[in-house]
Amino acid sequence: MDALSTLPKNSRPGVLERYAELLPLTPATPRIDLGEGSTPLVRSQRIGPSLGIDDLYFKLESCNPTGSFKDRGMVVAVAKAVEDGAKAVLCASTGNTSASAAAYAAHCGLDAYVLLPKIGIAGGKLAQSIAYGARIVAIEGTFDDALRLAREYCARHPVALVNSVNPHRIQGQKTAAFELVDALGDAPDYLFIPVGNAGNITAYWAGFKQYAERGFARTTPRMMGFQAEGAAPIVLGHIVEDPQTVASAIRIGNPASWQSAIAARDESAGAIDSVTDAEILDAYARLAREEGIFCEPASAASLAGLIKTAAARPDLRGATCVCIITGNGLKDPDTAATFKTTQTDVPARLDAIESALGL
Ligand code: F0G
Repeated sequence: MDALSTLPKNSRPGVLERYAELLPLTPATPRIDLGEGSTPLVRSQRIGPSLGIDDLYFKLESCNPTGSFKDRGMVVAVAKAVEDGAKAVLCASTGNTSASAAAYAAHCGLDAYVLLPKIGIAGGKLAQSIAYGARIVAIEGTFDDALRLAREYCARHPVALVNSVNPHRIQGQKTAAFELVDALGDAPDYLFIPVGNAGNITAYWAGFKQYAERGFARTTPRMMGFQAEGAAPIVLGHIVEDPQTVASAIRIGNPASWQSAIAARDESAGAIDSVTDAEILDAYARLAREEGIFCEPASAASLAGLIKTAAARPDLRGATCVCIITGNGLKDPDTAATFKTTQTDVPARLDAIESALGL
């Protein structure tokens, strides 16, 4: 054994190493690893019990290297792009896909081009794309416009498209379903998940089905997807031209994986429903204050959906439920800042602190 081979590898295996046999890898696929995947599954301390649901868990995809679930799919998409000889990657994004693409491109020495709607990208996400050195093009239009143009651009130029229309993205993202089964011993009864472009619900369902087919899980969950009320094309059954919601990550009016999201819903006997911005913000605040989980608003759509469903379906009480926490709250500090602050300004004296805290 030479000295190099005894050096420690990354402290825990990334998605490509952990699930190599279940991913479309070849010997020529570079085994890149920024520490994505293997995210925590945290049991609810207060919200579950308050709803009468003893087995409620949060899957913290916000703990991925760029702070969202996108890294699981991006590591596969970028590895395959490198394998195919690409020199650059491109995506349209509401902010998280672009942050992830930019990070993995930087890791591999590729150029990253990101098409963002000019209005409504959360500040932390934009900061990430800037920091990772992506070339940013801000479009006067929606995410749906940006995705259409991204597809057209990549059809004409030698640049790899790394949106979830790239099947490698879905392949990587399905590994979160594997992790849930690995952690719980079987699939949960219900999976609550935000829906935007609908790639993630598609990926989880593919993962659960694959694990069941291989005999690693006995069951599959009901897939419970939630769109924001002002951006709910799947619920309404038609494209939304001007989607609006505080949850900027899922401000999408024409999801690319629309049909596969419907298939996931129907094959799993699940549902795709909408939640209001008020319900999203209530769930967002409760996650932070009652569980210690600071997520971005879009992520809270999963818990908002659970709260809405629990009111109508008492059978949730005995069920194992998982809410996917898709992105980190630090990405969108402006939304947190809209909450009433508990800050008091005082001079630097103990008595002033004592009187401010009222103790
Ligand atoms: N949650 C977060 C934090 C997201 O960033 C997204 C999508 C979703 C949920 C919805 O997932 O699109 O697979 O249904 N963000 C994309 C982006 C659109 O560009 O970052 P989906």
